Amino acid sequence: MKRERWASRVGLVLAFAGNAVGLGNFLRFPVQAAKNGGGAFMIPYLFAFLLLGIPLMWIEWTIGRYGGKYGHGTTPGMFDKLWNKPISKYIGALGVVIPLLIGSYYLYVMSWSLGFAFYALKGTLTSLTTHEQINAFLQGYQGVVQNQYFHSIWPAYTFYLIAFLLTMYVVSRGVVKGIELLAKIAMPTLFLFAFFLMIRVLTLGTPDPINHPDWNINLGLGYLWNPNIEYLKNGKTWIAAAGQIFFTLSLGIGVLQCYASYLKEKEDIVVAGLATASTNEFAEVILGGTIAVPAAVAFFGPELVKTGGAFDLGFKTLPLVLGKLPYGWLFATLWFLLLFLAGVTSGVALSQPLVAFLEDEFDLPKRKAALIVAIALFALGQPIIFLFKHGVLDEIDFWIGTVGLAFFATLEVFIFNFAFGTSKGWEELHRGASMKLPKIFYYIMRYVTPLFLTGIFIYWLATDAASKFVMKGVDPADRPYILAARIAIVLVYAIIAVLIHIAWNKKHQKEA
Ligand code: PHE
Repeated sequence: MKRERWASRVGLVLAFAGNAVGLGNFLRFPVQAAKNGGGAFMIPYLFAFLLLGIPLMWIEWTIGRYGGKYGHGTTPGMFDKLWNKPISKYIGALGVVIPLLIGSYYLYVMSWSLGFAFYALKGTLTSLTTHEQINAFLQGYQGVVQNQYFHSIWPAYTFYLIAFLLTMYVVSRGVVKGIELLAKIAMPTLFLFAFFLMIRVLTLGTPDPINHPDWNINLGLGYLWNPNIEYLKNGKTWIAAAGQIFFTLSLGIGVLQCYASYLKEKEDIVVAGLATASTNEFAEVILGGTIAVPAAVAFFGPELVKTGGAFDLGFKTLPLVLGKLPYGWLFATLWFLLLFLAGVTSGVALSQPLVAFLEDEFDLPKRKAALIVAIALFALGQPIIFLFKHGVLDEIDFWIGTVGLAFFATLEVFIFNFAFGTSKGWEELHRGASMKLPKIFYYIMRYVTPLFLTGIFIYWLATDAASKFVMKGVDPADRPYILAARIAIVLVYAIIAVLIHIAWNKKHQKEA
């Protein structure tokens, strides 16, 4: 079967950028920076970008394009080609399992921004004026409690169905007519909205000169960007920077390899990779760094931002901020549509690996593969939605979305460098490239990136994972649900592993 290829250079860069630009750029980055030394955070961030992000990104593009040449769109087949050992395809299984599990809750979270865009447009959202009110609104929406805003989870569920069906529809149309086309529409729109919001935030001035004359936009920008050098002495700052780089560039998941499998053999991945990474960094540092945190500080002062997480900032604080502006409903609608566009282009990226796996390894037609993926994602999504209040989503997010990524990336880097070989990999990376990278990157890829990654993985394992594992601080009533979530993770891995086993057996029979 002939595999699809991205139709144009612009389209593929937009598709990869759509994959990378997500909630991480507009919510996670500003909060991480503000909590970890402000402007000083940019130093470890830049280190992590150069020593971890960029090299790993090139490695994943290289692995993906190489696998695509042999008809493999996911890491089981790719790793098998890199390292001819039975175990390599079962390590590669992670590159199907991780996006499937993340996708099963990501689509739900992304649908919240669609729902909130709707309530912003209706004016409901910006009519809420206190933190208590918006808190109650969000909790009601999520079905955590019933209150005057929501009697049931059905509104949220309706938006979930819309977001879910839209994502599946795009994926079922294939790489060019689905994902690439979506990116060509969504990405420019997203940038337009973000520019618009950025300019609005920069012209906020002093919102409340009588009660809070010192709360203004300069204070907000200074809050995020003034360097606090003290933070650089703390290891946590460095880990946070590395974690953010991972998340924002979509590394260690399996999605970049999958997208890269649709590259032409001679595509310049050195330059295209750089173009994608720069687009992502622009969206993150310039746009993401100017909107949410500075606006929140200008209105509510610096104290508030310190306490809440990334999610609180975007879904609770920002609607309150925007509600105080003339035409606030319009800005709030744009804000949530921006988040939704950022989310949906990442949502398709998370769904594609399993589709590719079924197409490539089981020769299923695209529509059939997409239908099976829709059923799988939907089935996994239900317990996550209905058991949300028991912490099921957070549990999967921690083991898969944090520890899992670093684990997978670590194994991948070792296979690339020491099984496949760095020099062969370096040659693959440069095939079709219009520029040659400085040799220093070769040594970074071979030595620094694996060490850096192993360090991070061990750190996560040693600090957070141990207490998480024994469910420290978890309400006993929630424990059975958490345990069930873990069993589900293992089961999903087992199912994918069995499928791999079947697919490879079939192939051997064909060859014999
Ligand atoms: N990179 C996305 C962000 O910054 C997150 C993501 C990870 C999306 C993996 C898709 C796949 O929000």
